[in-house]
Amino acid sequence: MRVRNIKNKKEILENSKYVISNPSFYKGKWNSLFENNNRICLEIGTGKCSFIYEIARQNPDINYIGIERIDTVLAYGVKDLENKPFLNNLHLINYDALKIDDIFSKEIDTLYLNFSDPWPKARHEKRRLTNFRFLEKYDIIFLGDNKIIMKTDNRDLFEYSVVSLSNYGYKITDLSLDLHKKEDYNNIVTEYEEKFSRKGCQIYMLNAVKKNE
Ligand SMILES: C[S@@+](CC[C@H](N)C(=O)[O-])C[C@H]1O[C@@H](n2cnc3c(N)ncnc32)[C@H](O)[C@@H]1O
Repeated sequence: MRVRNIKNKKEILENSKYVISNPSFYKGKWNSLFENNNRICLEIGTGKCSFIYEIARQNPDINYIGIERIDTVLAYGVKDLENKPFLNNLHLINYDALKIDDIFSKEIDTLYLNFSDPWPKARHEKRRLTNFRFLEKYDIIFLGDNKIIMKTDNRDLFEYSVVSLSNYGYKITDLSLDLHKKEDYNNIVTEYEEKFSRKGCQIYMLNAVKKNE
């Protein structure tokens, strides 16, 4: 995601009630931060936070955490949230998901991957969020079965992910090659989804589950 730099991004992130600056402190005890035992769902690559805010608003009995690697992108999102009603079931982290096993341990219910960067070059394959390098780390974060919900406009990333997840032991339990034509799907549209569907792109979606003993 390319965005113009914000001069005071550090202050914006530091002063936000949503942003957790010491996420490793909460490893294994995120429920204590939310002060309840509700499920915790996670989005990696949360961008400017519109999806994570809206899903949290619609589901007050579920806790949500959004992770975004780029501070400027997250700062834009956080600034936007200042104008919206505060939600106590949402937190945000400025962090690279490659180190996700340092901040969560057996506490995530569902992982959302929305319009993840496709990294089309073969030499960048290991940066894709459905590469086995990430899938290995996700094994550590889930409480119960591993559940991933993914949306993308990128056919190659979608096909790559179906293969990668299946090879890793996930079962694809739902799949759409044109999500916006799927009936009865309660979809929350992300920023990228809005942009790409306006251009006429098809939106691909999958649900994947890996059973844990
Ligand atoms: C294409 S944007 C999509 C943003 C948003 N999910 C949406 O659908 O509008 C992908 C985002 O994922 C973030 N991202 C990519 N790799 C990441 C990683 N390893 N950890 C955290 N965020 C990451 C990027 O910085 C970027 O903001």
